[in-house]
Amino acid sequence: MTDESKKILFSTETLRETVQRLARQITEDYRGKDLLMVGVLKGSFVFLADLARAVDLPCEVDFLAASSYGSGTASSGNVTITHDLSVPLKDRDVLVVEDIVDSGHTLAYLMKVFASRSPRSLRLCTLLDKPSRREAEVHPDYVGLEVGNQFIVGYGLDYDEKYRNLPYISVLGD
Ligand code: IMP
Ligand code: MG
Repeated sequence: MTDESKKILFSTETLRETVQRLARQITEDYRGKDLLMVGVLKGSFVFLADLARAVDLPCEVDFLAASSYGSGTASSGNVTITHDLSVPLKDRDVLVVEDIVDSGHTLAYLMKVFASRSPRSLRLCTLLDKPSRREAEVHPDYVGLEVGNQFIVGYGLDYDEKYRNLPYISVLGD
């Protein structure tokens, strides 16, 4: 047993049920549409892999990487795209898939950039939401689980690039 497993916030089973619930809703909402899932690297890679397999529809997947210059565990308003998408968004039904919305700076910026590329529709699905930390206006269309003001790791989320491969989510620290 690792140290992190002692402070489990969301178990593998809770995450599985949450992904299934989101996937059922997305399957209903996107039936007959041209679904393109856009994952924000790196944090979303585990969630997106599970979500895409649970959605019962044909869909395409693409990724982009963004970074926001801030210190330690906080992000800032200075967001840049470090690796852009490989497909145009024009006339696509785009579902952005994110691990967590915290201050909202990253997604506020990215949603603006994506909207400027003329998708047919644009929605945001986040596994985790920290609404109490919001500084920029972001309104996810699909939210898995809410989190308080805690720094968490696992299931794609890192601290200093570690813990992304934990199959559950735990609270870092103490
Ligand atoms: P925001 O721009 O403040 O909304 O932060 C977005 C990014 O910060 C997320 O996509 C994560 O990569 C990272 N982040 C925010 N909160 C956490 C956390 O509790 N654990 C790990 N990463 C986090
Ligand atoms: Mg992220």
